[in-house]
Formats: sequence, C-alpha cells, structure tokens
Amino acid sequence: MFGTFNNIAVCGGGNAAHVVIPLLKSRDLQVTLYTPFAEEAARFEAGASAGGIVSTDSRGKELRGAPDVITTDPQVAGKADFFLLVMPAFAHGPTLKALAPHLTPGAVIGAIPARSGFDLQADYLLAGEGCPETGTIYCGQTLPWACRIVEYGRRVRVLGAKASVGLATAPADRAAEISILLGWMLEVNFVPLANPLAVSLGNIGQVIHPGIMYGLLKDYHGAVWQEDQIPPFYQGVTDEVAAIMSRMSEEIVKVAEELTFCFGIDLHEVETVEHWLLRSYGESIGDSSSLARAFCTNQSYDGLKVPVIKKGAGYGPDFKSRYLTEDIPFGLLFSKSVAEMVNIRTPWIDEVIRVAGGWTGKRYLGDDGSVSGPDIEEARIPQNYGIDSAEVLVRRGIN
Ligand code: NAI
Repeated sequence: MFGTFNNIAVCGGGNAAHVVIPLLKSRDLQVTLYTPFAEEAARFEAGASAGGIVSTDSRGKELRGAPDVITTDPQVAGKADFFLLVMPAFAHGPTLKALAPHLTPGAVIGAIPARSGFDLQADYLLAGEGCPETGTIYCGQTLPWACRIVEYGRRVRVLGAKASVGLATAPADRAAEISILLGWMLEVNFVPLANPLAVSLGNIGQVIHPGIMYGLLKDYHGAVWQEDQIPPFYQGVTDEVAAIMSRMSEEIVKVAEELTFCFGIDLHEVETVEHWLLRSYGESIGDSSSLARAFCTNQSYDGLKVPVIKKGAGYGPDFKSRYLTEDIPFGLLFSKSVAEMVNIRTPWIDEVIRVAGGWTGKRYLGDDGSVSGPDIEEARIPQNYGIDSAEVLVRRGIN
C-alpha cells in the first residue's frame, strides 16, 4: 500500500511545513514544497542549497531533509499524487482553488489541522474548479506538533508531540487506510474517525480560543499593558471563564448527540472541554479539582500569554488574532449552523460570536440571532456549499 503514493506535495511554508519535510524525506518520498509566495520559495531554495531543514525534537533527536521540488506554480505542484495542506484555515480555499485544475484523478488531498468544514469546502471547490474525480479528502483533527521555525528554510524546533490525532476522510471508509499511511509518513499515531463531522464539531479550538478571549477580554476598556502585565492566556482561566467554555462545549455536544439520535451516526469523539483537557494533558496538569484549576496548572501552557499588538507605549489585546479570525469562521460558526439545522439553541456560542464580531468588525449573525449576517460568506458553514439540512450533511459524511 505504501508504494501507491510516492510524490507528496506539502502545501504551506510555515512552522508545520518545516517539520513535515524532513519526516517525509526520511521515508524516501519525493517531496514538492508548494507556496504561492516567491519570497518563501526563495528562502526554501537557499535552505536546500545549504543542506536542507534540520528538525530537532524535544529529546534532541535530529532529522534533516530538503524538498526535491520547490515551486510557486500550482501546475507543477499538481503533479503530486498526495497533498498535505499545513497552513491556517483561511489559506485552504485559495490553495484548493489554485491546485484544483491541475490535480490528477485519484489524488488524495487533506489538511492538518483541518479545523471545521474542510471536507465540504474541498469537495465543493475541487468539483467547481474542474477536478471532479479527486480520490479522497482527509481531515486531521489537530496539528500533531507544537513547533516553531528557528531559521526559515533551515531549522525548526518541535516543542512537543501529541500522543494521537483523529483523522476522518471523505469517503469515510478510507479513514483507516489513510491513517496508517499518514502515520507511517509522519511518525504520528492517527486514529481513524467515523465521520468528518467528528473533526468539525470536535474541533476544540473553537471553544477554548474564542471562549478564553471572550472571558478574559469582555470587560477590557483599552488599558495599555507593559510586557510584564500581559495576562496569561490558558493559565488566566478563572472559574467564570471555565464556566463559559463548559457551556459552549456542552452546546456542541448536544448538537452531536442530536445528530446521533436522529441519524444513528457515531460522534462520540465530540466531547466536553473538561474531557478533552484531562484526556489530552492529564499528566501535565497539577490540580484537576476544577476546570479552571486544570487550565491554570497545566504545565504545557506555561508562559503562553494573551495575543497582543503594540498599543501606545505598551501593548493591548490583538483582536485580529487567529484565536478569533480562524476559530470563529472556521469553527464556531460551523457548529452554530449545524445546531440551527437540528433546532438546538446555542446562547453561549451566540454571545461569543456577537461580542467577538464587535472586536473583529464582522457581523455573522442576523438580527434574529441566526447565521445570516452580512459577513457569512466568509464562514466555512455547510450552507455555503449548498447543504441546508442535517440529513444531507450526515449522509455526505457517511458516503
Ligand atoms: P504558519 O502561520 O507558520 O503558516 C503560515 C504559512 O501558510 C505561510 O508561510 C504560507 O506558506 C501559508 N499561507 C498563508 N497564507 C496563505 C495563502 N493565502 N495562500 C496559501 N498559503 C498561505 O502556521 P503553522 O504554524 O505552520 O501552523 C499550521 C496550522 O496549524 C495553523 O492553523 C496553526 O494555527 C495550527 N497549529 C500550529 C501549531 C504550531 O505549533 N505551529 C500548533 C497547533 C496548531
């Protein structure tokens, strides 16, 4: 099976791409790096000429590798047979559109992390852009690594790796096979999920990032912080903020339970924030007596602060941070729109979307509170891909 795909296109030139390239090269695969940005491509070329990217993990183990082909041309990248999108969710659409006319029938294409609704967007754009015969679309639940570029095109540091990562496919029956294949390519334990909805609704970033931003900043009135005054992000979670996240995640779990009740699909991976935190970080949590304490005493969150921008002689919150601009249109709004399909009320999610929209200048909700605001075209919700009922949505995930 592993002989089937030999030519892998890594799409995106950020932190994750730097980790993925040496891993793929260690498996002797042909690797194409595709970025639409000429400056990034030039820096990868320079790195390749100097011996490739060195990736160092937290135990000091090193891997080295350079892409065989570096290109800004989607036609060149389109020759690959397996595509791995490692980039922010807002870049998925432009990348899929650029690649679509050049993909060969049977190509496998996916994103890690997929965030919410990736499979619907990919299916819609690939068919619409003249590539109706894509083999399989896959969606990884989270990026397997915390990683940071040390020197662009040359060095990356892997700060930590997840024990396992969920993966769903469309069609759904290829999840096991693609999990094994990608697991071999990337040295990650991918766990097959039954339905892409498990990835979309189970995208926990949609709860914790906007939830903490809302909770910590809803009473912010323009203070300028000095560097040592920037509040901790995860470790700044109070009982009140924890309660907000709990309620948001309970609303999403209710949606998943309703889908299971109505259509019999397995969405047990869609879990509350409490379950997710203890399952994901059990060993690094010092005190799990409450959700707030579990966030505050999770060593993996040490040093992470509220995202900031320069403000006056100091700093203020960055309301354009991905915690809002990615996790709301590519997360919470997906869950909110599926909730509408099954008539589940989501007052806490609505409140966060509304307040955060005031910060980012986006109106996603209409006056009646439904997903019908003027900026809704930017959101990756089923309705934007012609899917208006839960039944059609669920059936798409099964077939
Ligand atoms: P990154 O911010 O380093 O990636 C940026 C890259 O995306 C750019 O270098 C560019 O090549 C590409 N890109 C940006 N705009 C584009 C566009 N319009 N069209 C095509 N390509 C475009 O992101 P990183 O760190 O590699 O992470 C990838 C994803 O994984 C993100 O969603 C991030 O939030 C998530 N993630 C990252 C973690 C990390 O430790 N780096 C940890 C957990 C999640």
